Amino acid sequence: MRLLTAAVLMGALALAACHPRSGAGQAADNPVAPILTTADAVDDQSFARPLEARVTHLALDLDVDFDTKRIGGTATLDIQRRPDAKTIVLDDNGLQIDAITDQHRRALPFKVGAARPEMGSPLVIALRPDTSRIIVTYKSAPNAGALLWLTPQQTVGKKAPFLFSQGEAIENRSWIPTQDSPGIRQSWEATIHVPAGMTVVMSAPRPEQPITEGGEGVFNFRMDHPVASYMIAIAVGDLAFRPLGPRTGVWAEPATLPAAAAEFSDTEKMVSAAEALYGPYRWGRYDVLVLPPSFPFGGMENPNMTFLTPTVIAGDKSLVNVVAHELAHSWSGNLATNATWNDGWLNEGMATYAERRIVEALYGKKQADEQIALGIDTLNKAVADAAAGGGNATRLHTDPKLKDSDQSGEIAYEKGSAFLRTIEAIVGRPAFDAWLKGYFDRHAFQPVTSAMFLADIRQHLVKGDTSLEAKLMLDRWVYQPGIPPNMVRPPADTFAEQDKAARAFAAGNAVPEDWAGWTTDERLRFLTRLPRKLPARSLDALQTAFKLNQARNSEVRFAWLDTAVANHYDAAIPSLQQFLTEQGRGKFVMPLFQALAKDSSWGEPIARRIYPLARPLYHPVVTRVLDPLFVAKPTEKGAK
Ligand code: BES
Ligand code: ZN
Repeated sequence: MRLLTAAVLMGALALAACHPRSGAGQAADNPVAPILTTADAVDDQSFARPLEARVTHLALDLDVDFDTKRIGGTATLDIQRRPDAKTIVLDDNGLQIDAITDQHRRALPFKVGAARPEMGSPLVIALRPDTSRIIVTYKSAPNAGALLWLTPQQTVGKKAPFLFSQGEAIENRSWIPTQDSPGIRQSWEATIHVPAGMTVVMSAPRPEQPITEGGEGVFNFRMDHPVASYMIAIAVGDLAFRPLGPRTGVWAEPATLPAAAAEFSDTEKMVSAAEALYGPYRWGRYDVLVLPPSFPFGGMENPNMTFLTPTVIAGDKSLVNVVAHELAHSWSGNLATNATWNDGWLNEGMATYAERRIVEALYGKKQADEQIALGIDTLNKAVADAAAGGGNATRLHTDPKLKDSDQSGEIAYEKGSAFLRTIEAIVGRPAFDAWLKGYFDRHAFQPVTSAMFLADIRQHLVKGDTSLEAKLMLDRWVYQPGIPPNMVRPPADTFAEQDKAARAFAAGNAVPEDWAGWTTDERLRFLTRLPRKLPARSLDALQTAFKLNQARNSEVRFAWLDTAVANHYDAAIPSLQQFLTEQGRGKFVMPLFQALAKDSSWGEPIARRIYPLARPLYHPVVTRVLDPLFVAKPTEKGAK
């Protein structure tokens, strides 16, 4: 721990010593967040070399052009540098760079280096001895990986076009020239120009009312806290707002707003519950934005403005754990941020743990236990899937040098949250809660690594208690594959009724009588505990009893369609087509298309027919995964 602290301090001092803060726009009460200097904090997914020169503040002045599908203008970067630094390296993925100058408008030579797959290219800018600010004049490419441009027809209201961004993990370099690494924090501000009548929201407070000027709308945003670049987000469209509480509210297309406001009416209570657990909410307002159905995730924790898929609007609040999860990131992730994506569990596992604590506070222990139990099912499946690769993909701290180490998302979420629940059970809730709250305070607005997490828990919770240390198995949880033997589980009878019903159905097609009284989580347990192979008459019985082809709940609909595809159930094809073409959430559309594409006799022709219809709605993070499934095979007729 001592060593680590010393290394951090040295890194910060090396930069700060000779360089007074340059940023006129920088908030006085927020010191520049340090760059970690340990080997495990080196981000191999960014080209930046922050110990030589780093961005401390970013000011964007951008036009949004729906005709050319480009965002363009200037990015003004305040930097800190070692006195002898000759260059600063930014991340760039496909930007059109028109000019780069220093604070005196003198041109700075620059070079876009060779691209690496998925990472983009280094943008290397020569520094003059006195350069403290850099102004980049640029445009994003029409196919920028962070951005989705929707036609009016692809929105719910069908009146205006729509644009939104998705930054995590390394997409923002396709529209913002900065250092795109979660270990490098910067405050930021933006002035955004859009066609008159359109509304802009971003992941920061809006210090002034928007104005309309010369046929365009001008919106200002300002984030005084230093944040990682992936937390910068924008959405532009026909958007309306409704307050939910004194510091919470919902933005959505006008047609979606009433249902969204009803679904998320507990948001203010969630913020209070989270504060009771983890200390004051430090970001000011907490608003949620419901995007058009193309949004590729369930939710994204953009500061001040969680982005949400409309597929969580079930009509009965049964999927609002997604809001609890994104809100939890206001502590885990947005306050204390993984320094590299190899420690993604520090963001996601902690958020998943805290999500279920918030659910427990609002909706009770039974509902939280059910969601924990479904999480254990997900974890078991992820561990089984990773077995072929020797389990390397099941380590919480991922080591990209190991073979087959690519972590499936579920491990970070579910092994990470199971780890925290296990610690909680061993030390007791009061001690654990006090520690976790302290951890967020001690690392607020700073990057963290697994090693720092472990050092903090040893210093503040274990405190040298060797028998406690042995019980916790901390290193085994973080650095070894698989599930340690001390994992705690929710009560064994959590889904007793559903498991019994699934067995009864498997034995003789008896459909559960209590279905109507079951919660969404209970329905999901039943559906996912059915035998994987079912005859058409069994699926007919379920469809007749519960109308699953018409299920409005997106999670239930997905679980059903997943079963239907596995069993070549023709009667589900229209429902499948509708589901795949009316929303673009990766968690739903990717596994369905992948299952179809793998199944050359039944599924592949269906997938090839539906994908061209669905694709225009999907965000680049989804099409990047699905397009390769559908490249024409050379043997096919007409293939080039
Ligand atoms: N931060 C994630 C989304 C994400 C992860 C984006 C990795 C890009 C890369 C977000 O907080 C999240 O986990 N969303 C989940 C919902 C949650 C309840 C598990 C989702 O999108 O399904
Ligand atoms: Zn998350």
